[in-house]
Amino acid sequence: MVSQEHKERLLKLAREVQNNAYAPYSNFRVGAAVLLENGEVFAGCNVENASYGLTNCAERSAIFAAVSKLGAARVKILAVAVVNDHDAPCSPCGACRQVIAEFGSEAVLWYQGQNGIQESTLRHLLPDSFRL
Ligand code: THU
Repeated sequence: MVSQEHKERLLKLAREVQNNAYAPYSNFRVGAAVLLENGEVFAGCNVENASYGLTNCAERSAIFAAVSKLGAARVKILAVAVVNDHDAPCSPCGACRQVIAEFGSEAVLWYQGQNGIQESTLRHLLPDSFRL
């Protein structure tokens, strides 16, 4: 069970890192933060590219930062928070759901919904996810 304090900490960090987003094409700045089992928190923003398909979402930026710093064996995701600068509904995209599944199949997720921050789980958002 992830505490309310953790939730608030993740959302605050996601809002901060959202300011670093590189989003000149969509003008949609996203920030994400992930809480790991070891208590560490990592953040990331979306990084776009003139070749649009190369864009990296905020969620994947945060997860890749964690793996880069700690090594995959120490990255067990308990929770993910995602915010954007339009306060627009924004659940993690399909690609990010699959990446979250890789490191946090039991993760709880908070993201902007129709009416404020919404809670869900990776299992709910990506049932029967692919694994090798
Ligand atoms: N984006 C994210 O970073 N995370 C999401 O959950 C949804 C979309 C980014 C990708 C792109 O830079 C911009 O938002 C518009 O799609």
